[in-house]
Amino acid sequence: MQTVRLGRTKAVVSAAGLGCGGHSRLGMTRGASTEEASRVVSAAIDLGITFIDTARLYGTEEAVGLGVKGRRGEVFISTKASPTGGGPGRDGELITPQALTESLEGSLRRLGTDHVDLFNLHGVTLAHYDACVETLLPELKRQQAAGKIRHIGITEAFGADTRHAMLSRAMPEARFDVAMVGFNLLNASARRRVFPATQANDIGTLIMFAVRRALSHPDVLRDTVEKLLASGEVAAGAVDPADPLKFLREHPEIASEVEAAYRFCRHEPGAHVILTGTGSVEHLKANIAAINAPILPREVSLRLEAIFGAVESVSGN
Ligand SMILES: NC(=O)c1ccc[n+]([C@@H]2O[C@H](COP(=O)([O-])OP(=O)(O)OC[C@H]3O[C@@H](n4cnc5c(N)ncnc54)[C@H](OP(=O)(O)O)[C@@H]3O)[C@@H](O)[C@H]2O)c1
Repeated sequence: MQTVRLGRTKAVVSAAGLGCGGHSRLGMTRGASTEEASRVVSAAIDLGITFIDTARLYGTEEAVGLGVKGRRGEVFISTKASPTGGGPGRDGELITPQALTESLEGSLRRLGTDHVDLFNLHGVTLAHYDACVETLLPELKRQQAAGKIRHIGITEAFGADTRHAMLSRAMPEARFDVAMVGFNLLNASARRRVFPATQANDIGTLIMFAVRRALSHPDVLRDTVEKLLASGEVAAGAVDPADPLKFLREHPEIASEVEAAYRFCRHEPGAHVILTGTGSVEHLKANIAAINAPILPREVSLRLEAIFGAVESVSGN
């Protein structure tokens, strides 16, 4: 397993990180029990993963707690609280600092630990960013001083904020140690809008949406590309709308679109941990192999850039 330095946290963690949210939620979305989900977590550690991302909202903190039992020292745990209490990007009033601390205490209890390595404000929008900095960040710093949090992070609401409005504002200010960034071969706009500032300020990055649904479900990919052709972000004639990424599958050095999607993210300058969300140990093994595989062939990267380089309006959700 390859490792990476997570920016100024200076933590050295696996390049592949287990994402316990997304559409899969360790298989719990499809009905897996907490015990079954915890077995994906322990399998991940057996396979060399040392970075695990969860959140109160995912309902997977208990599974992570069970999966890391007796092995807490082997893993870097990241969890989150939403500044509004709702899902990423949700409107509404900011929670109080007290409610934030209660959320952290609940996470520690469910995870069965006395501290988390990274605590993130979850799915922050540009509209909420200033209030988060003024009201919630000081409280997180108090919890950090008390030893309950090692590092403080922020995650964007990429499903809605596909142009990175919040992180474009936040990263040059460098108030957070780590940022979770939406990035994939369909929308690589973080290359221009986010990574220059994270690199300049040594901010650690966690990559989400590497695959999501658009790159694991052919029908979602077709719908997504249809929208991009209609908006003009992808030029007419640049792809076959019926099978837009056929050229990836047909390349002798690429096994599948999913493999190409994780490789694409892994070798991006400025990308640190590549999160992979799954409820399947077989998928997890394949995804770890992809994240540890060499950079995509140059002609493939150039072709992806020529087709999708201007895309900013979709997340691949
Ligand atoms: N705003 C936020 O803070 C935010 C938002 C979204 C996500 N996240 C974090 O980022 C993590 C990564 O995002 P994500 O979970 O959407 O991850 P992802 O790795 O981009 O996509 C995961 C999806 O692809 C499928 N998949 C995975 N491997 C596959 C394979 N080899 N073949 C076919 N399908 C495969 C999974 O289903 P299977 O279960 O069938 O494998 C799942 O539906 C999340 O788990 C969460 O921790 C944070």
